[in-house]
Amino acid sequence: MAEVVVPLTVRDVVEDDLPSLTWYGNATALAAVTEAIRRAHRGEVDYLAVCTPSGLPVAVGGADYTKPPGAATIWQLAVQAELRSCGIGTVLINALEDRIRTRGLTWAELGIDNNRPRPRALYERLGYTVTGTEPGAWNEEAPDGTVTRYETTITLLRKQLT
Ligand SMILES: CC(C)(COP(=O)(O)OP(=O)(O)OC[C@H]1O[C@@H](n2cnc3c(N)ncnc32)[C@H](O)[C@@H]1OP(=O)(O)O)[C@@H](O)C(=O)NCCC(=O)NCCS
Repeated sequence: MAEVVVPLTVRDVVEDDLPSLTWYGNATALAAVTEAIRRAHRGEVDYLAVCTPSGLPVAVGGADYTKPPGAATIWQLAVQAELRSCGIGTVLINALEDRIRTRGLTWAELGIDNNRPRPRALYERLGYTVTGTEPGAWNEEAPDGTVTRYETTITLLRKQLT
């Protein structure tokens, strides 16, 4: 097996990235990215991309400073499907934690859908511990445009940032 080491950089997501984010999802998903970029301009969130040397974003995710009080919520994490389980998600979470520290906050929180528990092992490996659960509900859009209401339980995890 051949191995190539590719240097990755982390930077803010910008609107010019949108054409390169087709892997992220459909128009509704990309609208959520656009909204996150606007919120970053307002200072409510940091919204970061992990990029290849050519500048292509292969992972995006954010830190939301509007909740919970005194901490930040890491949300909307996604790594391009073909590049998962290579450590890129870890790079992204570490960069988000650095941004949260820069804001002077000492806690990061994130939530896991109990029906999609695979990322939990990653978060626990990075030092996050379970603090509780809460109900979650949102609209999900199928590729044919059908929208259904999805309801689940969210497990909340927290990490103290030293
Ligand atoms: C969750 C997600 C963001 C994690 O990103 P990732 O790049 O796959 O994360 P990492 O590679 O850092 O860590 C994940 C796995 O790779 C392994 N890994 C970490 N570093 C590695 C490396 N250098 N080489 C090989 N494997 C590595 C980890 O042990 C972990 O194991 P797992 O696959 O059994 O969980 C990504 O899988 C994703 O986009 N999933 C779909 C959307 C989603 O679920 N978002 C999160 C909602 S809470």
